[in-house]
Amino acid sequence: MSDDIREKIIADPEFGNKAEAFEAFDDIPTNPNLGNTIGDVINRRYGRRDVLRGALGVSAAAALFGTTALVAPRDAMAAANDRFAFDELTWGNDENHHIADGYNADILLRWGDPITADAPEFDVMNQSAAAQSKQFGYNNDYVGFAEIEPGRGMLCVNHEYTNEEVMFPGLGRQDRSGFEGMTKDLVDIEMAAHGGTVVEIVKGSDGKWSVVRDGANNRRITALDTEMTFSGAAAGHDRMKTSADPAGMKVIGTINNCAGGMTPWGTYLMAEENFHGYFWTDVVDAEGKPDISGQAEAAQMKRYGVPGRWYAWGQYHDRFNIDKEPNEVNRFGWIVEVDPMNPSATPIKHTALGRFRHEGAETAVSSSGKLVIYSGDDNRFDYQYKYVSNGTVTGNETFGSELLSDGTLYVARFNDDGTVDWLPLVFGEGPLTAENGFNSQADVLIDTRVAADLLGATPMDRPEDAQPRGDGTAYIMLTNNTRRKPGDENAANPRAENHFGHIIEIKEDGGDHASARGTWSILVKCGDPTIAEVGAQWHPDTSESGWFGSPDNCAIDDDGRLWISTDQGSGWGKTGKSDGLYSLETEGELRGHSKLFFRCPVGGELCGPYFADNSQTLFLAVQHPGTDGTKDFKGFERNSTFEDPATRWPDFAEGMPPRPSVVVVTKQGGGKIGA
Ligand code: FEO
Ligand code: CA
Ligand code: CA
Repeated sequence: MSDDIREKIIADPEFGNKAEAFEAFDDIPTNPNLGNTIGDVINRRYGRRDVLRGALGVSAAAALFGTTALVAPRDAMAAANDRFAFDELTWGNDENHHIADGYNADILLRWGDPITADAPEFDVMNQSAAAQSKQFGYNNDYVGFAEIEPGRGMLCVNHEYTNEEVMFPGLGRQDRSGFEGMTKDLVDIEMAAHGGTVVEIVKGSDGKWSVVRDGANNRRITALDTEMTFSGAAAGHDRMKTSADPAGMKVIGTINNCAGGMTPWGTYLMAEENFHGYFWTDVVDAEGKPDISGQAEAAQMKRYGVPGRWYAWGQYHDRFNIDKEPNEVNRFGWIVEVDPMNPSATPIKHTALGRFRHEGAETAVSSSGKLVIYSGDDNRFDYQYKYVSNGTVTGNETFGSELLSDGTLYVARFNDDGTVDWLPLVFGEGPLTAENGFNSQADVLIDTRVAADLLGATPMDRPEDAQPRGDGTAYIMLTNNTRRKPGDENAANPRAENHFGHIIEIKEDGGDHASARGTWSILVKCGDPTIAEVGAQWHPDTSESGWFGSPDNCAIDDDGRLWISTDQGSGWGKTGKSDGLYSLETEGELRGHSKLFFRCPVGGELCGPYFADNSQTLFLAVQHPGTDGTKDFKGFERNSTFEDPATRWPDFAEGMPPRPSVVVVTKQGGGKIGA
């Protein structure tokens, strides 16, 4: 990883805020195995189409594959009926959100809304860590729901990161100025705005959901002061010990909680994604660049991109400074389990699920009765994982179940012949021995990426969310990877300079999610199907509004239908479209047919989605509204700040910056979404 590139990205005017630069830098590959894929260039399943789109152009390609895949999409109204019964929304990008006709999309929770009974009202000009610790956090990503009874339950929401330039008055972007405007008070507010929210919500007689302010189980989970413990082989290991925790069993907080999942027993899983960005060092070389060569675990830190120095937390909290607490970084990058029904239950970081930049943790009970959790490592050229419990799900599990600490983690190798092998990460097996630096299963788990490198896993185009369905099918979102060079393609990642991503469908052998082998195919290749050079692959009836770029999160509704939300980041100018939610047909003749259902306000990324209430309620999370790529927003064309944002969604009140918010979608008059 080059710090020259880091400095260049920070200074690059293309990246209007720290988060955009963060993502660009974050994705500089740290995988040392990239050369391994060069031999896989001949892409036996999909290569011809990809070669054709560049070299031969439309006419030759059309002769081979028929015209429908390459001509302009037909009018949406002319599309044959897929299984989604709604009139497609028209694409665009403006200050507000939009939903398909016949649906309500209401704001349920906004950054700063009081969560606990004793929480103060939001005062954006007088924020404090104490207040923020009781108020809804920033940048809502994952949304889950634990039902208590029909129409009532606990909403579980991750708060992934913070955007200081639109969060705090008069501050502006800090990474370019060495964080000179940051104070301990502001850092502590940031830390309190990270983590998660668990809050009771109830559906009224009018069909509208609202927050129960005095819900007995309401709680905030933060990076600042929420104590957590560990389970699994890495718990208590020497590499997990710090001066504040000589037993290696207790850690404060969770960071960069991206997507997540709900367990079959109704607990809430939070995925720790870009944890590396929060760690700091003061040790620099002659040019003032970080020098980790003196670190005992320098190689592992390098593979994980530590220290990222994207936040100034390490200047005020020693544990985020690797010079002072080098092991603290080993205590992040895990999956955290939270009991939404007990606000005093200590959350658990389950180390058996491995340590990497976990995008999410979506669960399934396999046909063989095992708990299976799919989780991607969201970095360019990193891997897709799944965890399989040793025991079977009985229905009597509770928070802290050993199904999350006693199991096997696997990493995916996507073979050119359309099969996928799940390779076990088990100490002592194959190359995972002392000879290669692994002295225990704890080492394998703490250094999951390094272990997976040795096993020969397939480097992917940024694995984001992965969603299993009960029938042994799983959908893998590969969001994009512009750094894949011609010659580095592999069968499962067939496009060089993959700007728009693709979606892989896995069918596990025997319909069993616990199987160590399955088959895979590409469901769609994203991007504009009317531009041959993009190499997109959709059902040809997909309309101009229906195609998308950069799939990120996904959900499967009660009818087994797939829905996709997008995160194009600052790259939305390449499609001109806001991020949004799309239905995507997976079955029958209309497989690969996509339709737009909801779109975000400008600069926002769409997270969630989560179906509840027998698929009559859909929770969506709009994070960082008004921030990404606003230089491409016609009529605005500059970077947003607190004082001057591209949108003041959702309040549209003078002086109020945009607020990340959870949106609840219901059908007017009631009924199932999209039916
Ligand atoms: Fe936080 Fe990979 O998105
Ligand atoms: Ca994501
Ligand atoms: Ca994302």
